[in-house]
Amino acid sequence: MPILTIMPSGKTIEAAEGSILVDAILAADEPIQLKCNRDAKCESCHVFILEGRKSLAKMGRPESEKLDSMVGVASKSRLACQCILGTENVTVELLGALSG
Ligand code: FES
Repeated sequence: MPILTIMPSGKTIEAAEGSILVDAILAADEPIQLKCNRDAKCESCHVFILEGRKSLAKMGRPESEKLDSMVGVASKSRLACQCILGTENVTVELLGALSG
């Protein structure tokens, strides 16, 4: 099972392979919003993947199109509601107030 490290708190949890990143973040009791209810239509679950990016399932078109329309996006950006965890450890940075 991959270890998920959540920044800036530094909390670590074991997450099941195949689970959705945002669900693992919520299970860790870390703050993240789901304003569009996991539909890749808002910006509230925008996170930076600091490590383990290649372990996540590939980005789909809805996520890619949403990220293209957002400001403050970097190469490490993902929408946590669209990320499926793989086998490798992942470090994610919550953007909190920076997210829409
Ligand atoms: S909850 Fe809206 S894009 Fe993820």
